[in-house]
Amino acid sequence: MSRKIAVTSALPYANGPIHIGHMVEYIQTDIWVRFQKLCNNECRYFCADDAHGTPIMLHARQKGITPQQLIDEIHSEHSKDFADFGIEFDNFYTTHSDENKALSEYVYSKLKDNGSIATKTIEQAYCNDCNMFLPDRFIKGVCPKCGAADQYGDSCDQCGATYSPTELREARCAICSSKPVRKESKHYFFKLSKYESQVKKLLESGHAHKSVANKIGEWFKSGLMDWDISRDGPYFGFKIPGEEDKYFYVWLDAPIGYMASAKNFCEKNGIDFDQLWNSKEWELYHFIGKDIINFHALFWPAMLMGAGFKTANKLFVHGFLTLNGKKMSKSKGTLIKARTYLNHLDPQYLRYYYAVKLSDGVDDIDFNIEDFIARVNSDLVGKLANLSSRSVPMLKKKLGGKIIAMDEQGKELVSKIQAQKNSIIADYESLKYRSAMRTISTLTDEVNKYIDEKQPWVSIKTNEKETSETLSAVLNAVRILTIYIKAVLPDYAAKIESILNIKPLTFADSDEVLVDHEIEKFNRLIERVEMEKVEAMLEESKEEQPQEEVAAVEETKIELDEPLADECNFDDFMKVDLRVAKIVLAENVEGADKLLHLILDIGGIKKNVFAGISKAYKPEDLLGRLVVCVANLAPRKMRFGVSEAMIVAAGPGGSEISIISPDSGAKPGQRVH
Ligand code: 2FM
Ligand code: ZN
Repeated sequence: MSRKIAVTSALPYANGPIHIGHMVEYIQTDIWVRFQKLCNNECRYFCADDAHGTPIMLHARQKGITPQQLIDEIHSEHSKDFADFGIEFDNFYTTHSDENKALSEYVYSKLKDNGSIATKTIEQAYCNDCNMFLPDRFIKGVCPKCGAADQYGDSCDQCGATYSPTELREARCAICSSKPVRKESKHYFFKLSKYESQVKKLLESGHAHKSVANKIGEWFKSGLMDWDISRDGPYFGFKIPGEEDKYFYVWLDAPIGYMASAKNFCEKNGIDFDQLWNSKEWELYHFIGKDIINFHALFWPAMLMGAGFKTANKLFVHGFLTLNGKKMSKSKGTLIKARTYLNHLDPQYLRYYYAVKLSDGVDDIDFNIEDFIARVNSDLVGKLANLSSRSVPMLKKKLGGKIIAMDEQGKELVSKIQAQKNSIIADYESLKYRSAMRTISTLTDEVNKYIDEKQPWVSIKTNEKETSETLSAVLNAVRILTIYIKAVLPDYAAKIESILNIKPLTFADSDEVLVDHEIEKFNRLIERVEMEKVEAMLEESKEEQPQEEVAAVEETKIELDEPLADECNFDDFMKVDLRVAKIVLAENVEGADKLLHLILDIGGIKKNVFAGISKAYKPEDLLGRLVVCVANLAPRKMRFGVSEAMIVAAGPGGSEISIISPDSGAKPGQRVH
């Protein structure tokens, strides 16, 4: 009997573009949903924009538009990005909706009625110039632990310390730079501790991956605190019933947005929402990233329990995406927007590449450019798509275009592929996509081997029937492999279905084979990835950066990290001999966690340098690179040796540092003016 399954992905903030890091989750979920549909299960995929909160309110203000206009604009951008990546939501809604307002008020009233809501007066940072309470992210100052400037009110980017905004030194409003004051206000709290044993039980029952349950276990150990669910106006969100200027905190109504999206879908399609959302007949799964575990494994189930709803069957948690082993960074221009990717590359490449990398765990996955190109070109284009390009044109143009009965060897090959169906299904079901892709790749190799052995391009000269049999086996193999990979590559699958002249495939079709079947003519399936296009995508991402930074600075009027230095006269400046240099040696320094040892070639003169850049650069990435250096700096004796020059770099330090490089035309030794 077919299953009924509701699925959600985390709701993206309606405050900026989708990037390829976000796409890990939407691709992972979309593959799972498509897989369920291919198993003939009734599966519905719900999502929405997460439209509330201070950042969205301020962003709209800065653009001179209303929050509604901003979230509408972003909704259409997000919808298009998702559609172009083949993410097939059953409903992509918004949390700023009537359904969500009604459901949020309903959940709140239930929690209130059963004694799960408390009020407390708390003191918070308040900006008298902006007339608003400042969320932690809107307070900036000096880190109390390491002294780094320009850190947020809750944590330090440089040393990773977490603290409360009151501990921040020289705190100021990130919007207008004035000094915040402390001010009291009444807040509403959700009494989480009431649900401690129920949530614990849920997690012990396998609600989420072990590592997630362990993480939540740490919070249980330190005791569950009441959760602050209200914010004072001005705020973009839903008003708390009975209050004039207090709103639900965005994280209260965001997960309820999953339900609201489902409700809106049900209303439009004449489906019983209570049945879909709250009956045992329907399973429910949430896909999320590891950064929002607390909201989904703790607050959300507790809220549902308190309001009389069932909790999800499982929470699927994935890790982050790194780019070439490094965290993607807006300021380094390494954050690739979904749209920028789409401007240059086929979305199927990324769907396939993520599938190759994803498993059921929470480990981060790395988008390694070289590996990406190799996997797509070798496995997808060179092996899988090649099976069709090696067989369809020959069968169609030279042998009458008909699939006939296979010979014994062909039948064996196809049976072997069919035999993997259950294992592939089990892999998809348990999110082990990497393993499913490996199986498909091994089977594809076998089919290619079969073609190489049978040599249809030779046999066609002497035995057309045998050649047709061979090609029929290959195309039957292609058909079944297409079923196996269809959830990952829907466009590729649609092309194969039209070439093979067959109805849309599902897993149920994999036990049959085609015999006496007319095919259509060949159509190109997928192109090779070209390095130039990848480079152009990376370049466009870098170019997008400066503009955004300006916008961000305008938005928040953040002061410079360091004030401009006192004036220096021209002669003073000319004393500094800046030169182009080439890095001819780069290595880690044992015992020093921030330093790299470099040798610079300054037009024949070699200088030894110890540079504090190891958090941002790997030695192998620096070798051969042109840099600008202060060539006449007096040698300085350091703990690890003598440093004879200094390379020029920007940024506060740590991982946020960017070496200044001349264009490739510059020659080592040239003076920099
Ligand atoms: O972290 C985020 O991007 C949130 N917008 C996710 C919300 S998921 C759900 F709870 F609404
Ligand atoms: Zn202010």
